[in-house]
Amino acid sequence: MSTENDKKLWDGRFNEATDAFVEEFTASVGFDRVLAIYDITGSVAHATMLVQAKVLTSNELELIKSGLEEIRADILSGSFTWSVGLEDVHMNIEKALTDKIGEVGKTLHTGRSRNDQVATDIRLYLRDKIDDIEQLITRLQIGLIDLAEREAETILPGMTHLQVAQPITFGHHMMAWNEMLERDVGRLSDCRKRTNVMPLGAAALAGTTFPIKREITAQLLGFEAISENSLDAVSDRDFAIEFSAFASTLMMHLSRWSEEMILWSSSQFEFIELPDRFCTGSSIMPQKKNPDVPELVRGKSARVFGALTTLLTLMKSQPLAYNKDNQEDKEPLFDVVKTVKDSLTAFADMVPAIITRPVNMRNATMKGYATATDLADYLVKKGLPFRDAHDVVGKLVAVAIEKKIDLSELELTTLQQASVLIEADVFDVLTLEGSINARDHYGGTSPNQVRQAIARAREKLRKRDAGN
Ligand code: ARG
Repeated sequence: MSTENDKKLWDGRFNEATDAFVEEFTASVGFDRVLAIYDITGSVAHATMLVQAKVLTSNELELIKSGLEEIRADILSGSFTWSVGLEDVHMNIEKALTDKIGEVGKTLHTGRSRNDQVATDIRLYLRDKIDDIEQLITRLQIGLIDLAEREAETILPGMTHLQVAQPITFGHHMMAWNEMLERDVGRLSDCRKRTNVMPLGAAALAGTTFPIKREITAQLLGFEAISENSLDAVSDRDFAIEFSAFASTLMMHLSRWSEEMILWSSSQFEFIELPDRFCTGSSIMPQKKNPDVPELVRGKSARVFGALTTLLTLMKSQPLAYNKDNQEDKEPLFDVVKTVKDSLTAFADMVPAIITRPVNMRNATMKGYATATDLADYLVKKGLPFRDAHDVVGKLVAVAIEKKIDLSELELTTLQQASVLIEADVFDVLTLEGSINARDHYGGTSPNQVRQAIARAREKLRKRDAGN
């Protein structure tokens, strides 16, 4: 049997002490202490509600509150002593409360179970982290949109199959990244709605015999809704899965940008340079400047996808209601939160500091016959069906390849040998500026449209800010 000090809060019916290894194996306090401040907030709200329900007196509540506030301060200052013997964050705090305020501490858990308590704690934790993450994404978007504005006219080779396809603007490319983030924020705020539902009151699984007033607790904790079904309340971890799915999509996006930044900053491309403070050197090759930050973010997407798979697999086939399996939800979830926050912080700092190399981007665009589609469109506007125009231009590209020059460098007479429809005005469409300016419709790459897209994106950010 346990001594008075590490006595389990639940061992009334037990005849022997827990096996030492089992005690370590089943404990979660090593990682769930992250939830401590949310656990205390939840307990204060629960106790406050119990007074309204006439289960506790105001004097008891005052004692409980002051005890819990002392514990919160001890935890934040690092002076709190955690005990593995007390298994988890909930029982560590409850025991510390009783040690501080005596018998009254033992009344706190009335009408509650660790099952609805832990579900509440994770939701409070995640709601908080969702708000931090939304702010980080917004900060990244602000820097990205500013970069797009600075480079609204800068020519960049637009690629398909990683080969030069058509001229675009660097600003347009940045705004494509912004669209990914905009959808990520949409997914995140959707997930927040389903996270912000209160399980407290479900107790172990079936509810409680005490006359609890769940709407009071929900209001105190800022929950938008109360769970409808006690069995579902204690076992539902959809919100953690949904959050990890959001996070996986976000990390997939960041890995795509990372890849582009790595390519663009290489000596083969030299479209951008990443400031030294975001790079590291090689211990052997003195000339090296490696894009470690985007490489690491690209790599970190792996652990987030892994966590999503872990959580889905954890919940698969679990019977209702709470099972100890659920204790395994925390480490992957905490890791996703940390990884996403770190990756976003790195990007939000780095993206505004990207140094562009417009001359190199322009030269690369000149090399790939990027205005071939413009020439075909020109012929269509002169009356040729598109498929025939495509064929004419294909032949001209072959001639230009042969001569090792760009389409715009071909003689007018050479062009006219391919089609009599070609006149001197053809050179307007063969220039890079002519090409981008011609794509002047909603969602197009012309500097004019990029500026309009920037204005719309900023308006969305303004509305989001006003809504928060
Ligand atoms: N540490 C547990 C968890 O994280 C708390 C809930 C324990 N409930 C129980 N009935 N054993 O899930």
